[in-house]
Amino acid sequence: MQHFNFDEIIDRSHSHCEKWDKYQGKDILPAWVADMDFKSPPQIITALQERVTHGVFGYTAVDDETLQTIVDFIKRHYNWEIQKEWLVFTHGVVSSMNLAALCVEGDTVVTTTPIYPHFIKAPKFAGKEVFTIAMKEENNRWTIDFERLEQAINPTCKLFMLCNPYNPGGTVLKKDELEKLATLCVKHDMIICSDEIHADLILGPDAQHIPIASLNEAIAKHSITLMAPSKTFNIAGLQASFAIIPDMSLRHAFQKKMGSMVGGINLLGITAMKAAYQYGDAWLNELRVYLRENLLMVQAFVTKNPSLKLLNQEATFLAWIDASALHVKSPYEFFLNFGVGLSDGAPFGDANFVRLNFGTQKAMLQNVLNRMQKAMDSLKD
Ligand SMILES: Cc1ncc(COP(=O)(O)O)c(C=O)c1O
Repeated sequence: MQHFNFDEIIDRSHSHCEKWDKYQGKDILPAWVADMDFKSPPQIITALQERVTHGVFGYTAVDDETLQTIVDFIKRHYNWEIQKEWLVFTHGVVSSMNLAALCVEGDTVVTTTPIYPHFIKAPKFAGKEVFTIAMKEENNRWTIDFERLEQAINPTCKLFMLCNPYNPGGTVLKKDELEKLATLCVKHDMIICSDEIHADLILGPDAQHIPIASLNEAIAKHSITLMAPSKTFNIAGLQASFAIIPDMSLRHAFQKKMGSMVGGINLLGITAMKAAYQYGDAWLNELRVYLRENLLMVQAFVTKNPSLKLLNQEATFLAWIDASALHVKSPYEFFLNFGVGLSDGAPFGDANFVRLNFGTQKAMLQNVLNRMQKAMDSLKD
């Protein structure tokens, strides 16, 4: 039985909304930046309303009950037992990626490509060189090229930046893949910064999210895991996230880099995070069902248009579509001209791709796909 109405269209104009403001006044449907068009779970909205009614918004701290709520959520969903003191709060995962790049020694950082741009930007900002390993297609899914990765690692590499689930591409790394990666990191004494912001948005029937740090103690000691309720419960604007750092000296190094420059979590962010992790499971289950249906719509569209290609999408609401066979100069510009604002693949590392955000109402997604179909049909003339 459905309890939550994901079909409800919400007018997001005039709401300080990056996604919709970008094309304000233009006949362009936005399907880019990674937030969803749904209302957050009602329990989050009520918790925020109650906190706002309180009326005093002074300096804030994370209370023990909230810490326990996070610990319980991670145990319940990932069977990973973390300690409260491992948690370090920041206002965003991108800030934490930068802190990770700053606090780990070594002149080079390794990551994969194409990837969410901050995986490249953060190490560069920390003054480090970045080695990128191209993701490879295997069994209709994007995965890590372990052979090339092992070849690329040298003694200057002290940090591997992992995105799991993967953005873009939607891969959820399997246990044996994570074990390989963990073994490599421990063997070469590399820290792994594992961005798991999309962990709760698993769509593939056989996919399961495993935090890499939960595999064993050795990799836990080499890990900085980044999580947040922001993508899952559509509260990115509230800026609340956390790093899980089991090793005390690594945690202190991370906190030292925060210093007084990177403020902690936002008061309303804590309020929303606590409500989300306490009461959000039922909403999340229904969200995943809805997103799976949306993904089927996207897959049907791609199947109908064989010059587009989409590999197995195991997680996230972001479809990474290969448009190279269209032979247009910029697939992003091409679809924009037909009124759809996708994410351009170029900043992720491949301009032949576009990324379609399907975290929206079905009616909206259908409009997006209709316009994209018109674009595709125009090539037949
Ligand atoms: C993999 C990944 N990491 C981090 C972020 C952004 O995180 P935050 O808004 O907490 O900085 C995104 C947003 O799209 C993302 O996809």
